[in-house]
Amino acid sequence: MEGQSTRVNNAFYEGLGDSWYEDDVHPIALLRAENATRNPWIQERIRSILGPSRDILDIGCGAGFLTNALASEGHRVTGIDLSAKSLSVAEKRDTSKTVRYMQLDAFALPFPEQSFDVICAMDFLEHVEMPGQIVREAARLLRPNGLFFFHTFNRNLLSWLVVIKGVEWCVPNTPSNMHVYSYFIKPSELKNWCEESGMALREMRGLSPRFSSKAFWKSLFTRKVDKDLQFRFSTSLSTGYLGIAQNRG
Ligand SMILES: C[S@@+](CC[C@H](N)C(=O)[O-])C[C@H]1O[C@@H](n2cnc3c(N)ncnc32)[C@H](O)[C@@H]1O
Repeated sequence: MEGQSTRVNNAFYEGLGDSWYEDDVHPIALLRAENATRNPWIQERIRSILGPSRDILDIGCGAGFLTNALASEGHRVTGIDLSAKSLSVAEKRDTSKTVRYMQLDAFALPFPEQSFDVICAMDFLEHVEMPGQIVREAARLLRPNGLFFFHTFNRNLLSWLVVIKGVEWCVPNTPSNMHVYSYFIKPSELKNWCEESGMALREMRGLSPRFSSKAFWKSLFTRKVDKDLQFRFSTSLSTGYLGIAQNRG
């Protein structure tokens, strides 16, 4: 496992360009597959808990997989990221042409408090050094009863083996330090940050590849992420997990 001083690599996103959407010999294809499962779930939860046409902030939006999906169903969406080139890919793929993409550091957001109904930080908290601060900032920016969606990875031996080493061994072109063990987050830590910030945890569920599928084994043998590889929800939070917290207001 990496030492405490190893920093997570956020620089490679800037060089991805259209690979965000097209490359299947790169772990970015796994992120696309995760998005394909979790985005409809997020959309359904927003509809059923808050209703249509909401103000949404996507923190660390990358190339806009979720941001653009939310805008396409009529929400008013802002996507922020440090990577200017990823934002330009996101903008190009925004068929609604309504998303407000902004190059910003998540630790210096310029929005007034209670600006949003929904804030998403998907595959993001394990990419920064002070994730608890991002959770506090989300609570500040959310309106009363607003929703905070997150996806991250648990910190334990299985996660290190599957999420870090498994991906490095099996997926070609995995950037060094794409994930760093010490940045992973235990569900109990995330729950505490939410509660200390005035948000109540509503739901947490696991997310992992369908290990039993033909597409999973085909991906392993061909060393190429198969287009049919799917992720599925589970009750186990032992590796990847996502969830929702609601602002008490
Ligand atoms: C794993 S990607 C996730 C992208 C997107 N949320 C998704 O799930 O498809 C992490 C993103 O966080 C961005 N990022 C890292 N640190 C950041 C910061 N301090 N402020 C804003 N964006 C940041 C990176 O540029 C990258 O696009």
